[in-house]
Amino acid sequence: MINVTKPFLPPLEEYTQLLEGIWDRNWLTNNGPLVNNLEMKLKEYLGLDHILFLGNGTIAIQIAIKALGLKGEIITTPFSYVATTSSIVWENCQPVFVDIDENDLNINPELIEQAITEKTTGILATHVFGNPCQVEKIKKIADKYNLKVVYDAAHCFGTKFKGNSIFQYGDVSTFSFHATKIFHTIEGGAVTSKDENLIDAMSKLRNFGHNSFGKFDGVGINGKNSEYHAAMGLVNLKYIDEILQNRKKQYLHYAEKLNHPSLKQISINPNADFNYSYFPIIFDTEEKLLETVKSLGDHNIFPRRYFYPSLNKLDYVTKASECKNSESIASRILCLPLYHSLSEASIDLVCRVILKS
Ligand SMILES: Cc1ncc(COP(=O)(O)O)c(C=O)c1O
Repeated sequence: MINVTKPFLPPLEEYTQLLEGIWDRNWLTNNGPLVNNLEMKLKEYLGLDHILFLGNGTIAIQIAIKALGLKGEIITTPFSYVATTSSIVWENCQPVFVDIDENDLNINPELIEQAITEKTTGILATHVFGNPCQVEKIKKIADKYNLKVVYDAAHCFGTKFKGNSIFQYGDVSTFSFHATKIFHTIEGGAVTSKDENLIDAMSKLRNFGHNSFGKFDGVGINGKNSEYHAAMGLVNLKYIDEILQNRKKQYLHYAEKLNHPSLKQISINPNADFNYSYFPIIFDTEEKLLETVKSLGDHNIFPRRYFYPSLNKLDYVTKASECKNSESIASRILCLPLYHSLSEASIDLVCRVILKS
């Protein structure tokens, strides 16, 4: 079976070595030494001033919205994973969808200004599939209207924009370290910001609002992560360069084999060092996509319709406007199997079945 993804697992003994330390210290969670070490190593690797390791990428978005005090309307993309929109709704804000560019699949900055009202407080955009948004245009608009910017950078580990980590953009940028991501901690996420006050606020938010023992700075939540998850991150980080290099090779192999007029590939931001985290293809029609999914399934190959559906179509979203590009692309896009141990022969097989169908 070839699944859309398969989590990377490091050599077991490297993980168990760190587990032995956890046993020795009997310190399992609550800002332990491995969590601190992971935060330090991630800052170093990504060139960031601050990073807070969290339970997952969804709570990272919720904490970002809360820390920035976003209220009312938040402009966002309809083409993302459900967590982007659900976090806005969870924080009692109204998502206002702005359609995507049909080539890079990111929010179209040219359409943002017309969606701003007196109730707008922020922009929450996703760097889709690790491909950077037009961050400079978005910043200009945000500055003009005094809006905060949060980037859902769940797919972005390893991506750079003009030579800097893409996580440096926005007031807050969020990570997911879920098992399916290019760098993972089994479950996990993080937030980063250049603003120390925001980092301080988010650090309290992740720990019940604790200021010190018995003292609370407002309401908080449990957004912490454990020593076990940090241990997985520390071991996986040793392999990330190898994973990124291999991913590029795998992606380019797909791209070459599937260079066909009726299979569209995404346009990568020309200023990006891209992490090649996913390989999406866009079919001419949903029927073609469904036929291909069937043929692949017959060969025990299981791609994923991702993202699907377009988030402006969620039942619990009210007053959502039409987003033609997002709705059309969500119905025609398929992410093909891509993971570290996927062989070239398997990629060739996937491509053969697709081209045949
Ligand atoms: C774009 C995007 N945002 C947010 C999330 C949520 O991250 P997590 O699963 O770590 O909560 C995901 C996870 O798949 C995602 O792909």
